[in-house]
Parts: sequence; structure tokens; C-alpha cells
Amino acid sequence: MLVSATEMLKKAKEGHYAVGQFNINNLEWTKAILAASQELNSPVILGVSEGAGKYMTGYHAVVGMVNGIMQDMGITIPVALHLDHGSYEGCLKCIEAGFSSVMFDGSHYPIAENVEKTTELVKLCHEKGISIEAEVGSIGGEEDGVVGMGECADPNECKMIADLGIDFLAAGIGNIHGKYPANWKGLSFETLAAVQEKTGVMPLVLHGGTGIPDDMIKKAITLGVAKINVNTDCQLVFAAATREYIEAGKDQQGKGFDPRKLLAPGTEAIKKLVKEKTELFGSVGKA
Ligand code: 13P
Repeated sequence: MLVSATEMLKKAKEGHYAVGQFNINNLEWTKAILAASQELNSPVILGVSEGAGKYMTGYHAVVGMVNGIMQDMGITIPVALHLDHGSYEGCLKCIEAGFSSVMFDGSHYPIAENVEKTTELVKLCHEKGISIEAEVGSIGGEEDGVVGMGECADPNECKMIADLGIDFLAAGIGNIHGKYPANWKGLSFETLAAVQEKTGVMPLVLHGGTGIPDDMIKKAITLGVAKINVNTDCQLVFAAATREYIEAGKDQQGKGFDPRKLLAPGTEAIKKLVKEKTELFGSVGKA
């Protein structure tokens, strides 16, 4: 059964580890992430961007697929199905469709409008036992065609949004989505410490988990990060494994190709990646 991410992240923050959010795009990714997390007895968050939701034909399809896979695989770990970088309208749709968690990305709105919309969504989510994440300070890089600059959040603004009753907070600390440029200055631990000081027990979220050196990840966890989002890394390992399989000519069965065989190496590669990240984040055995 899907659960909200509130409890798992509260425990993670108290226990000084982080829960991974791995984004899904299809059945194979979902299967791989759930299998890896179940084997390691770790809670997990399945992230769905609005683009991925559309690709999978809509949020009802996503909810049905994830629930069905969990039932058929006998998944017993806590799993949250979470809208990643949701618009206001996207959040409403996911709340209705049966997601157990949403992120409202109001960082591009003027602060007053962000506050108003966040307040309304907090109420709607909590009435249904759904957790809600908000973002302060745009997280850079490109995601679904939206390009941000990688700002550092204002800790006072973080406190203001945290006080609206959200369950976890994504604060920009120089992190960006996708690969980091060679001249990237690294995470701003100063900003992270200031945000943590202002927001207290609020679990903090680190977006852009791909390409951040392991020591920075570990330090961020000690400073209050309880959820780490990974997407690009899954894409990279999936694509590399699929390419290798095709280039080796293994897709030629003499009678066309079998899509189940073609997608198997990529699925295995995601499973391996999720296990490595889960170990790094320290959530093994925390289900
Ligand atoms: P990456 O694509 O850099 O791993 O970031 C994922 C993310 O933050 C999703 O919200």
C-alpha cells in the first residue's frame, strides 16, 4: 500500500540518513526501483514528473500501475508515490488520482502567490493524508524543458514556507538538475546550515542528486537533508546498458527482437544504481 512520505522522512531526519526519491518513467523503472528497495528493506519514494506522467498516459495510469506492481511483487516496504515539481494544477490532479505525496514547485511565483497556493494545497493534502513538499530558491539545470539557475535559498523565506505546514522542504543550495558543469562550485553548506537552523525539525530535500560527490552527499545528510532526488543517473545507466546490448547485436533474435530482452539490461542497471545510492544514503534496513 502506498504511504505518505511524512513518517519515513521524519524518521530519516531523526536517524541521520536520507530516503532516495528515484523518478519513474515506465514499468521497467518502477519494477527495478521497487525490487532494489525491497531487497535492501529500505523505504523509497517514486518520483513522477509532469512530463513522465503524461508519457505514461496520465496520473490514474501511474497510480494503477504502481499499486498493481506492488501487489504482484509482494512489496512490503513503505513506498510513497510523489509528484515531482508539480504545478498547482498538476498537484490537484495527483491528489485526485491517488498519489500519496506531491511537490508544489511554486518557486517561480512571487512569494505572496507561492504562500497562498501552498497554504491551499497543504490543507487539501492533509485532509487526505497526503504529504506535501515545497521549494524555495530555484533549483538549476533543465528538467522537462524548464531551466533554472541554481540559486541559494533565503533562509527566512524557507522558514516562512516551512511554517505553512508543509511536510518537507526543498531549498536551493547551489544544486542543479542533470550533470554538473566542470566549474560548479559545489553545494553551499553555509546556506544549508542556515536553512536547517531556521526550519528546525523540517526534513530537507536535496534535488539534483546526480553527480554530487559522495562526501558532499554525506555532509548534506548530517546537516538535515532527509530526502535525495535522483533522476538523470537512472537515465544514464539505462541508456548505456541498452546501447551496449544493441551494439553487441544481442537484440537480433533472427525473428525481430523481444522488447522484454531488450529492456532487461537497462532495468538491471537501474536496480544496481538504486542499491548503491540507497547504501550511500544510509536507508538500508530502515523500512
Ligand atoms: P537529477 O536529474 O540531477 O538526478 O535530479 C533529480 C531531481 O532533483 C528530480 O526532482
